[in-house]
Amino acid sequence: MTYNIAVLPGDGIGVEITEQAQRVLAALGLDLSMTTAPVGGAAYDQHGHPLPASTLELAKSSDAILFGAVGDWKYDKLERALRPEQAILGLRKALGLFANLRPAILYPQLANASSLKPEVVAGLDILIVRELTGDIYFGQPRGLRTAEDGAFKGERQGFDTMHYAESEVRRIAHVAFQAAAKRSGRLCSVDKANVLETSQFWRDIMVDVAKEYPDVALSHMYVDNAAMQLVRAPKEFDVVVTGNLFGDILSDEAAMLTGSIGMLPSASLNASNQGLYEPSHGSAPDIASQNIANPLATILSAAMLLRYSLNEPEQAARIEKAVQAVLEQGLRTADIHEPGTTKVSTSDMGDAVLKAL
Ligand code: IPM
Ligand code: MN
Repeated sequence: MTYNIAVLPGDGIGVEITEQAQRVLAALGLDLSMTTAPVGGAAYDQHGHPLPASTLELAKSSDAILFGAVGDWKYDKLERALRPEQAILGLRKALGLFANLRPAILYPQLANASSLKPEVVAGLDILIVRELTGDIYFGQPRGLRTAEDGAFKGERQGFDTMHYAESEVRRIAHVAFQAAAKRSGRLCSVDKANVLETSQFWRDIMVDVAKEYPDVALSHMYVDNAAMQLVRAPKEFDVVVTGNLFGDILSDEAAMLTGSIGMLPSASLNASNQGLYEPSHGSAPDIASQNIANPLATILSAAMLLRYSLNEPEQAARIEKAVQAVLEQGLRTADIHEPGTTKVSTSDMGDAVLKAL
């Protein structure tokens, strides 16, 4: 069977890092058909839109999407609907990619790369399950009001709506409980139920779904406390489930515990396990086209693609082992380079992973 993979490199370093991940995928000996299409600023330049219909169609008809990164300061002045970020938001919504899995693993070889003490982070392996198609990101109404309009007359107003429907909370809860059941059996749901109606609703539904998973211990934490505990004692967490906005913030925080956001993959899945796979980091336009970016987050995202969308867990493990091996060899891109290790370029890192496969 041929697997169809849409490759959307996007902007900035997205281009060079997806190239390395594609080389790794191509070397596995699987029957893969990879088709590349523009997205983000690159698509705006070519087609006048960050998510052209042709790119969206390709994504919809593929088994999985390998995504680089989008965004560049040069598009900051465009109206919101045309900015590169709309491409990723549009893909998430159009494909129903509601379940975002963001593992934060500290590889033992990188124990000194974290800004936290090695004993606090050594062995860290947590999974953030972020709801990705609801919450204040997509809630309506949103917008601007003039000084003559609305409840706060006399000055201009900006507003967004935090919103969750029961079905949205239930389905992400099931993903999180199932993940927790396969790991340590501990799930921490993060909310702001002391202030927000949406969060109390979220919490009540988590408690209800928990009845179906008697082997998983559910706990709850307010998001401000969770932000603090993540840097105080991150290993107390195993699986964390949270909404779109809190998950955005906490997953960046968790990423930094591991030393470099350049190491972290992510998966965004829909109900039929079609998925979009991207590094957790952005397009880093300041270092684009210099062949110095770390391709490992994208290569590890390709491993997640094999595991979750193509059901090829052995091939996924092969890639993950190869990444461990190159770290063991002391090879490091600039973001994780430290004295005593060998600094390599983006493409050298790709070569090394290929060799280690
Ligand atoms: C992420 C990013 C996106 C988000 C942006 C680019 C829209 O920060 O994937 O975490 O906020 O979800
Ligand atoms: Mn983010």
